[in-house]
Amino acid sequence: MVLNMIKDKNFQTYSTSDVVNYYQYLQQLQPAEETLIKLLRNQLSNMKMLDLGVGGGRTTKHFFPLVKDYIGVDYSSSMIEACQQRFSPYYPSIKLIVGDARKLSQFADNSFDLILFSFNGIDYISHEDRLKVLQEINRVGKSGAYFFFSSHNLQAIEQSFNWQSHLSLNIFKTYIDLVMFAFLRGFNGGISYQSIKENSYAILRDESHNFRLRTYYIRASEQIKQLEPIFNDIKVYSWKNGLELTTNHDRISCSDMWLYYLCRLQ
Ligand SMILES: C[S@@+](CC[C@H](N)C(=O)[O-])C[C@H]1O[C@@H](n2cnc3c(N)ncnc32)[C@H](O)[C@@H]1O
Repeated sequence: MVLNMIKDKNFQTYSTSDVVNYYQYLQQLQPAEETLIKLLRNQLSNMKMLDLGVGGGRTTKHFFPLVKDYIGVDYSSSMIEACQQRFSPYYPSIKLIVGDARKLSQFADNSFDLILFSFNGIDYISHEDRLKVLQEINRVGKSGAYFFFSSHNLQAIEQSFNWQSHLSLNIFKTYIDLVMFAFLRGFNGGISYQSIKENSYAILRDESHNFRLRTYYIRASEQIKQLEPIFNDIKVYSWKNGLELTTNHDRISCSDMWLYYLCRLQ
């Protein structure tokens, strides 16, 4: 595992000081996370929560005071150090530990009532590892536990791979958009618009953190299929306005760059 982590470019990026600094100063909940807090407001005070990929603690600030027990985990020790510096002075007993969502062997079976993997943390591992993470959540979560996470929306980035969609009457905008298109194609080994359209998920390099990350993008219909063998009551939310996308049409046409999913362990 240690060897894999050293070779992992995403792990390296999440251990880099400029990226750690960026997450250490994030404060606000995303609208879909506010929706979650409203939905669970009567249950949170009895819940044991696991915050996976806690990063610099953006969500710690909001969830720690609300739940019965809180543990934040990240595979980047630099993120955990930053998070400890941020919260230990105020909450000396806070549990923030280094750990990998793919192998949560430090936790017993049936331990948690709520598991969060916010701001697309699940998107920085391979497809096979993503399925392992879902199995680990199944193991460490209690029956009926909530799992809430977000993931990049392949539907939303599809048009960025279509050069024609970058043309407009504004020549300056067209120029900038075509330069970004060239970067996107260049960093992604020339992956074509056609191949994006034909796939239900893809690992792409997008502009976040200057194209340093390999990010998993998935269509909502495929994400639901991935969850169905393990979870019930699967719901999808717009990250931007926090509203539930209730119909297939809403989910397919939503152009949010990422979507939130709420589901419960069987
Ligand atoms: C986009 S950042 C989000 C950080 C924080 N949750 C937030 O919302 O600000 C993703 C985080 O997931 C962590 N991460 C990625 N893969 C992980 C894994 N396999 N196990 C644990 N943490 C992981 C990264 O180190 C990073 O801190």
